[in-house]
Amino acid sequence: MILPDELQCLKAIALMGGCRGPVKVSSQSLSQTLGTSPQTAARRLQSLERQRLVTRTIAPDGQQVMVTGQGEEELKKEFQEYSRIFSEKNRGYILTGVVVSGIGEGKYYMSLPAYREQFDRHLGFEPYPGTLNIRLSPSSIPLRKKIDALDWIRIRGFSTDGRTFGDARCIPCRIGDIACSIVVPGRTHYPEDIIEVIAPIALRRELGVEDNDTVSVEVGQ
Ligand code: CDP
Repeated sequence: MILPDELQCLKAIALMGGCRGPVKVSSQSLSQTLGTSPQTAARRLQSLERQRLVTRTIAPDGQQVMVTGQGEEELKKEFQEYSRIFSEKNRGYILTGVVVSGIGEGKYYMSLPAYREQFDRHLGFEPYPGTLNIRLSPSSIPLRKKIDALDWIRIRGFSTDGRTFGDARCIPCRIGDIACSIVVPGRTHYPEDIIEVIAPIALRRELGVEDNDTVSVEVGQ
């Protein structure tokens, strides 16, 4: 079986054009690409040749290396695995955490018509008045940062009765098969381990969850 280091070497040769025809490869230049000593690079090439993943011809001005059909198959296998990792259907992120109670602010903000109208327009539902607060498990915190880099919908702040309400942003998500959305207020200091989810329905009731129960929220595709 091909070793990871050898696969990297095979890929380097393919990147030089070795799948299309023989390419001139010196142990010196290959070692620089692979970050190894020239001896190690030479050994990997020999091993690839022994496994019939490349052919080598020695010419007076150096060696010519070409990737064989079998070598291409090894690279394709790797390519398919990367395709699976990045495929559309695997693009979603799954955050997990436990339900927690807030201080009842969500109900207030979610009842303001100027916010409700924007959520309805952008998300396609009028939110149940409140936000379900979820405290993320430590392993979900790095995921939340990845989600921060996705495209969020901007919810505009407004002024009414002499009070100013800030911007917020939201991104669609799912809990089971319920279409929901994560909402983040515009405030700069927001705890990184809490997310707030809005939905067209009462989630606690629908999901049968209370404080400390675990829920999973899927974001993306
Ligand atoms: O008190 P807290 O800030 O957690 O709640 P809130 O945002 O004022 O929402 C009122 C209650 O409805 C809370 O218990 C939320 O967890 C819950 N809720 C829900 O079950 N489903 C939603 N879609 C939104 C909120």
